Amino acid sequence: MARLKVAVLISGRGSNLAALIACCAAPDFPAEIRLVLANRAAAAGLAHAARAGIPYGVIPHRGFARREDFDAALDRALADAGIELVCLAGFMRLLGDAFVARWRDRLVNIHPSLLPAFPGLDTHARALAAGVRFTGCTVHFVRPAMDQGPIIVQAAVPVLPGDDEAHLAARVLAAEHRAYPLALRLIAAGRVRVCDERAVIDAAAGTAPRAMLNPPEDV
Ligand code: GRF
Repeated sequence: MARLKVAVLISGRGSNLAALIACCAAPDFPAEIRLVLANRAAAAGLAHAARAGIPYGVIPHRGFARREDFDAALDRALADAGIELVCLAGFMRLLGDAFVARWRDRLVNIHPSLLPAFPGLDTHARALAAGVRFTGCTVHFVRPAMDQGPIIVQAAVPVLPGDDEAHLAARVLAAEHRAYPLALRLIAAGRVRVCDERAVIDAAAGTAPRAMLNPPEDV
């Protein structure tokens, strides 16, 4: 079985990277992480790549005068490693339109809310302030506009009485660690198509199609 060659881009802690490394460790998982890149040398998550023996590197955005030059350096590193799919996992740089266009439908992101609600930063504080009863996370294909693009997997998480930002964030993060591996598995198995700017999941052989991905293991 040819496994999809994946790069993961991070800026910080890398707990989603760790979840992706863990799922790719299963011999029958249809993807493998070939490269981890960070835009900050201090990104703690790089240690996960080092421990797993995955090639990793730092491309510091500060070293480039223009965004396009940083994007081009990323693109070169990805091409050199033969990367087929790029997963953003807490990558805190906006990528330029040309890079996003070049990687269209091969570039995915995870966001800690049920998009299109609460794009951008401080999602948990905003969910609490809005008084929503459910929030969650979204894995989506990247488009030039921030936190927009065809939705591949979402997982809903309840907002509980007395929640503060830290408790809610931890509950959502646990859902992220299930949702991202699921999305990667579906993409790598060739089951995700983009049709009219919506992601369509093809049913696994012998099962009925499902539109509802919650709990996210249930596909
Ligand atoms: C996650 O909440 C992710 O949804 C958001 O940034 C955070 C990254 O966390 N984009 P980690 O670095 O994967 O632990």
